[in-house]
Amino acid sequence: PRILFITPEVFPLCKTGGLGDVSAALPAALRVMRMDVRLLIPGYPQVMQGLKPKRKVAEFNMLPQFPSATLRSAKLSVNTSTSIPVFIIDCPELYQREGGPYQDPAGQDWPDNARRFGLLCKIAAILASDASPLTWRPHLAHCNDWQSGLAPAYLHFHQGHKAASIMTIHNLAFQGNFPPENVVQLGLPSASFGIHGLEYYNNMSFLKGGIYYADHITTVSPNYAKEIQSEPLGFGMQGLLAARQHHISGIVNGIDENEWNPASDPYIARNYSSTSLSAKKVNKQVLQKEMGLTTDSAIPLFATIGRITHQKGYDLLLQVASQLVEIPAQLIILGSGDKTLESKLIALAKSYPGKISVRIGYSESMSHKIEAGADCFLMPSRFEPCGLNQMYSQRYGTPPLVHATGGLLDTVIDCTPSTLKDKSASGFLFDQMTANDFFLAIKQAVAAYRVPRTWQNLQQNGMNKDFSWRTSATAYRKLYLSLSALSSSKI
Ligand code: ADP
Ligand code: GLC
Repeated sequence: PRILFITPEVFPLCKTGGLGDVSAALPAALRVMRMDVRLLIPGYPQVMQGLKPKRKVAEFNMLPQFPSATLRSAKLSVNTSTSIPVFIIDCPELYQREGGPYQDPAGQDWPDNARRFGLLCKIAAILASDASPLTWRPHLAHCNDWQSGLAPAYLHFHQGHKAASIMTIHNLAFQGNFPPENVVQLGLPSASFGIHGLEYYNNMSFLKGGIYYADHITTVSPNYAKEIQSEPLGFGMQGLLAARQHHISGIVNGIDENEWNPASDPYIARNYSSTSLSAKKVNKQVLQKEMGLTTDSAIPLFATIGRITHQKGYDLLLQVASQLVEIPAQLIILGSGDKTLESKLIALAKSYPGKISVRIGYSESMSHKIEAGADCFLMPSRFEPCGLNQMYSQRYGTPPLVHATGGLLDTVIDCTPSTLKDKSASGFLFDQMTANDFFLAIKQAVAAYRVPRTWQNLQQNGMNKDFSWRTSATAYRKLYLSLSALSSSKI
């Protein structure tokens, strides 16, 4: 089948989190399997500049609720042998601005986000139906997160032939909720504003639209697919999700094994593999130096990278930090997000010079150096639909220590005598989202670190695991094949 993959971000052009990584790596893996997948993304400045040459393929001048837009096509090269065809919505009025894809430079949501992503959904639905000006017609519209959630709604109300739709939830906490008048302003029937439709606590919700109208729903891990069908991780949508349980599946993400490969990573001081782990020590030393930590190879070095938000459990990290340095151990934090949490973390680093180092900001290169140089990677996430860094960490011989939730539970095997024996142990899990439980796991990790053979086994078990996209892409392919039967025959 032909697939239109609709996404608000794609690595390396525009990425705020894991969705950007997935939107490049999954379509690339599908194309390697000879599937005709094409992306649809908004023409942010980074996209317009990053993709050349572009060809004009259609004009949308007559959409009553939206400014004029030009559809352009280009190719995104993922590696030397693979590229993904991309349709770009060139609409300067909505997308040509300084700042992020969802927020202005001051970190405030763009006030016209409903319109900005409404247009993405509207054009997606046109391209996936017999109203499309293109000869290329997809059998499936694969939507990702709230920004593309209205596409299944537009498709539902389209009278002619149309593609089947899939809604992938990468994070249920982001729902795209807006005042009710947006229903009509975006050209959807006012009758769709109801409990059986777009209404969500008196607002209209892009994500609810996707969940309600899509033919099928996926999330990015089997465990998260179950968790969102009840409180508290259903975030108010658990009822609808439980009602649609026979149309929900969980497919765990893979990782880009070229981008994240310690044997060839260009960002790190010394390349290494599971059979040359001693070279990892050089990366630790260089990292300690660069981060202003005491250079000491014996002291366990913990690290974390990510969006600094409530989801990621930085409050727990703040609570255990003083005990952690007393072990003794060191801590590196790279990330950006919530300003209050950021300033607490900066203050923390000031209190423990040489022991805790905090970098606020986004750095692709630094994230690779940390994965390679740290001993153990921390992810005390309150919830985690899939999570990528725990997989990068295992690939880099940096066992992850994670809260037993969502995709973390699906991808990390807790270190116990029996999992060590059967060689599946690859990290550490803690059950309760409390500082106490978190710190107990940290102590357990340090105890394992002190036994070089145990630690090396853990590292090698993780490094030998298959986190490639092949397995996940095969699952998506199967799903596409079964759903394409739902698309109208003439599409
Ligand atoms: P989420 O999508 O919830 O943010 P994931 O674990 O799926 O979490 O993906 C996060 C991705 O973003 C990873 O590739 C991670 O390395 C990257 N990332 C997040 N923050 C930063 C940062 N400050 N610097 C570099 N990379 C970052
Ligand atoms: C989201 C989730 C994360 C997941 C990513 C990619 O941002 O928070 O857990 O890995 O999407 O699917």
